[in-house]
Amino acid sequence: MTSVTTAARPLPAAVRDDFPFFAPGAPGAALSYLDNAATTQKPRRMLEAMADYYTNANSNIGRGYYRLAMASTDRFEQARETVRRTIGAAEPEEIVFTAGTTAATNLLAATLGERRVGAGDKVLVTGLEHNSNLLPWKELCDRTGAELTVAAADEQGRVTPAAFAASLDDRVRLAAVAHVSNVLGTVNPVREFAAAAHARGVPLVVDGAQAVPHGRVDVRALGADFYCFSGHKVYGPMGVGVLYGRRELLSQLPPYQVGGGTVKGVRLDEPVRYVPGPARWEAGTPHVAGAVGLAAALDYLGDLGWDAVRGHGAALVRAAADALAGLDRVRIVGDPVSEPSGIVSIVVDGIHPYDVGAHLDASGVAVRCGVHCASVFLDALGLLGTVRLSFGVYNTEADVERVRAALATVKPATWTAEHPGTRFL
Ligand code: ALA
Repeated sequence: MTSVTTAARPLPAAVRDDFPFFAPGAPGAALSYLDNAATTQKPRRMLEAMADYYTNANSNIGRGYYRLAMASTDRFEQARETVRRTIGAAEPEEIVFTAGTTAATNLLAATLGERRVGAGDKVLVTGLEHNSNLLPWKELCDRTGAELTVAAADEQGRVTPAAFAASLDDRVRLAAVAHVSNVLGTVNPVREFAAAAHARGVPLVVDGAQAVPHGRVDVRALGADFYCFSGHKVYGPMGVGVLYGRRELLSQLPPYQVGGGTVKGVRLDEPVRYVPGPARWEAGTPHVAGAVGLAAALDYLGDLGWDAVRGHGAALVRAAADALAGLDRVRIVGDPVSEPSGIVSIVVDGIHPYDVGAHLDASGVAVRCGVHCASVFLDALGLLGTVRLSFGVYNTEADVERVRAALATVKPATWTAEHPGTRFL
């Protein structure tokens, strides 16, 4: 995500029709759904792929030597290949299915982290991390006696390559960074971070949960050693996600959870021998239908055109910035426009974010407001919370106009009057 291009071709106008959630009479029919950074709605093609899997191929994978089980295994492995192709990994063996981004970062902290980090070492993160890419590293540091060090964001919420490089010293053994901030949509310059980290022999973990939904990500071009994302934020199902690991590093990691599907053989009188491939980190029965659904969602976006997806999100961010610029008391936080990624966060001076969120809800707009699981970043910005607009492929300028019209009439209410300093979420 280094540059924003105008879409080579726009998204089809009828893209909303691909989503049953927005059909006449369905919950989304009259809703401006602008909480896509929390989770996206699901295209029919993805729902049908999951239903087809459960209807026509359901059986456990990697264990059964009958045709149905082998067909099911094939579907799971095809999904792995679709993910590989989509994110530009070299081999399907570099793709591990997890329960989501959080599961992937926890897996890495417990394996890569435990292997590399000890007392006196440092783990480097940036100032804009979501708790999912902060707490696993903080807990690792607390456990091992290492130090968590932060490359701070500037007042616009940007972490510059210089700030990142300045935080790298000989004690840093591992760096973990967001690709895109879930709060402001800021895009971290991951390529530059990777070059600086690698120059010191430090592996780079990237939380891509908010990046993959907004345009094609190429993990090798970025230089990410590990890259994590969630299915449900990219129009796929909840409960499935991806951990990409560069083969040379991934293959050195021990298992995280152990159990069925992870072993070559077990004898009680000798150490367990684990399988070398991704199954080593997929103990138990994986979310096969989830992986199939995720692959269908990625194929759907690929067919829409990744450039068109990126261009659409960027156009809505610019439209929102233009529309909100004329409103008294409404402030956009950070700089979502120079490198748009589908998120615009605002504050309304003198009105608690929850009052703004409730007013938008009453006006038919669904947004998230609060600290967005990133209170450390909100503290650094000196904010109680923000109101976050996050766009998906089915949003239009009509959604932006509805937000503008609602914000023009927002007033202080209960939270502002009775709980002005309260913050949660
Ligand atoms: N991580 C999701 C968000 O930012 C839930 O809303």
